[in-house]
Amino acid sequence: MKIAVIGTGYVGLVTGTCFAETGNTVTCVDIDEEKVNKLSKGEMTIYEPGLEKLLTRNLREGRLKFTTNLADSVNDSLLLLLALPTPPGEDGSADLSAILKVANDLGKIIKEYKIIIDKSTVPVGTADKVRQAVAANCKSDFDVVSNPEFLREGLAVEDFMKPDRVIIGTSSERAKKILSELYAPFVRQGNPLVFMDVRSAELTKYAANSFLATKISFMNEIAILCEKLGADVDMVRRGLGSDDRIGKRFLFPGIGYGGSCFPKDVQALVQSAAEVDYSFNILKAVMDVNERQKTYLLPRIKEYFNNDLKNKKITLWGLAFKPNTDDIREAPALAIIDELLREGASISAFDPEAMPNVKKKLGDRITFMSTQYDAIKDCDALIIATEWNEFRTPDFDRMFALMKHKVIFDGRNVYEPGRMKDLGFHYESIGRGTFANDTNKNS
Ligand SMILES: NC(=O)c1ccc[n+]([C@@H]2O[C@H](COP(=O)([O-])OP(=O)(O)OC[C@H]3O[C@@H](n4cnc5c(N)ncnc54)[C@H](O)[C@@H]3O)[C@@H](O)[C@H]2O)c1
Repeated sequence: MKIAVIGTGYVGLVTGTCFAETGNTVTCVDIDEEKVNKLSKGEMTIYEPGLEKLLTRNLREGRLKFTTNLADSVNDSLLLLLALPTPPGEDGSADLSAILKVANDLGKIIKEYKIIIDKSTVPVGTADKVRQAVAANCKSDFDVVSNPEFLREGLAVEDFMKPDRVIIGTSSERAKKILSELYAPFVRQGNPLVFMDVRSAELTKYAANSFLATKISFMNEIAILCEKLGADVDMVRRGLGSDDRIGKRFLFPGIGYGGSCFPKDVQALVQSAAEVDYSFNILKAVMDVNERQKTYLLPRIKEYFNNDLKNKKITLWGLAFKPNTDDIREAPALAIIDELLREGASISAFDPEAMPNVKKKLGDRITFMSTQYDAIKDCDALIIATEWNEFRTPDFDRMFALMKHKVIFDGRNVYEPGRMKDLGFHYESIGRGTFANDTNKNS
């Protein structure tokens, strides 16, 4: 099939490349010329495991190309996928300006039947708005389909190639038939292709992300309660997750969720609800808890240093909002850095992939180190902000020797508290008690 993917960011690039991988001819369109030039040469614009190999192969075999020319790619394709940004507007609702601008342009370009497929996360009613914007200038027949994307950054290729489910919102039999063919290679193992009306499809995506965010904030509150009541959240999590109705996943407490999706999608659903006079109370609490959670460790760090962080050298391991990505949007690490800088601390950091993005944002306000061990040399404390695999089993003896004070604040519960105590570290994590080691206490 001939496909144009409009918007070549995380979702667009993965979508376009994976559809090319199953034999389709795909043109990815973007307004960012530099991005298009790089991708045309096979240079990656994002870090996503497994993607580069697929990109190179499909470019070489001529199934994938990149352009800034919307009209040519649209004329040449039956399927027009929108993978455009929907950032939060001032009131928290999704800003649809990129989507509606492109819909308006499409109306002027489309001359024969096309299927416009919305992969962006958009509020209920957006497909109707897109239909109207296209129809304002278009005489030809077209369908607008909602096909929300559920891929996870860091696992995007795997998620796209083997999705848990594919949601398709449309009432058009013609679109249904074509999309069933398009997605057939991705659902061969029996994972469902779920057809529904457009509005339900649009809401399903927000419901899924908001539910997952709720699970995280719920566990973060349980973790705080564990600390206050003398329980261990690891035990509670295991006991809780063994119940099939609850499930084992997404029960890990930490310093909050971030990224480009959960924060904005929860906010947008609250706003959508407000627009129909409904107060979505649970989600309001989820947002509050998450905001607080991002800097939850700060008072404890300050307390440890007798409320004086001036000139303390604090190291962060991890800057990305989660492992296996270079995405730093809404990353808890950034909130922690802000607070630490305000307190006068000096910060050195290491992240395997996200340092260039943080450098663009913070410049030389913090020091970037090229290895995790260089970053902790002579530090007063280490904060673990992202649970990259390489932080899980480090050389503890080397750490102990390098760190000025053997103090770890673990925002991702990466280590076993008992072991850290035996090794002589002062170790604090989330919901699992504190293991003080007085010989480390900084005066
Ligand atoms: N990132 C994720 O993990 C993820 C997962 C599922 C759904 N989503 C949703 O998918 C959508 C896209 O997210 P993303 O993370 O890929 O965004 P992104 O910011 O990485 O990419 C968007 C791309 O669109 C381009 N663009 C903007 N205006 C354009 C225009 N008029 N014409 C052509 N290109 C244009 C930008 O230059 C950019 O390359 C959002 O609605 C998001 O909520 C994201």
